[in-house]
Amino acid sequence: MSAVGVTIRPARLEDVGAVVALERGVAEAPHWAEREYGAMVESSAGEGVRRCLLVAESGGELAGFAVGRAIGREEVSGELESVAVATGARRAGTGRALCEAVIAWSRGQGADAVELEVRSANHGAIALYERLGFVRVGMRKGYYREPADDAVLMRIDVRG
Ligand SMILES: CC(C)(COP(=O)(O)OP(=O)(O)OC[C@H]1O[C@@H](n2cnc3c(N)ncnc32)[C@H](O)[C@@H]1OP(=O)(O)O)[C@@H](O)C(=O)NCCC(=O)NCCS
Repeated sequence: MSAVGVTIRPARLEDVGAVVALERGVAEAPHWAEREYGAMVESSAGEGVRRCLLVAESGGELAGFAVGRAIGREEVSGELESVAVATGARRAGTGRALCEAVIAWSRGQGADAVELEVRSANHGAIALYERLGFVRVGMRKGYYREPADDAVLMRIDVRG
């Protein structure tokens, strides 16, 4: 999958350092330890909770990444946990391509829907998710700290 010269692919262990460096510069993204990203790369299909770490690469550089999670065997729930694009690479379709790749991965894991939560003040991300077809399904008051914010819950059905 590509968006203007961008390749989306599963992360390898050697990508983790660059993913962490990008993540540390993106305040809106959830922050995880390097070893947690490493565990996502090694997450296997046999586990109850599966994660995917996808990267967007442009000219050999990391342009962005996304994290998906799938839980359950009979009824699988999919979640888009994080998406972040380098400041200089934004508004070129990379965020959209990363989200679409997480949706495709979730469908492949057997999910009927993909859910996410996002800060209510994060208008750019909400616009991206709405453009992708996510709809608002709820709100969690005071869910976020530093700075305090509500979480908007969004969902997209991924089965026909
Ligand atoms: C949100 C984010 C991932 C979007 O990445 P991106 O590569 O710039 O997004 P795209 O270029 O694929 O945008 C696709 C569409 O989404 C919408 N959109 C994306 N960013 C937007 C913004 N800042 N304001 C308004 N609409 C926006 C637009 O409709 C856009 O299409 P257009 O450029 O043709 O108008 C990026 O801004 C980012 O990394 N933000 C910080 C991290 C974050 O907030 N992540 C979400 C919470 S984990």
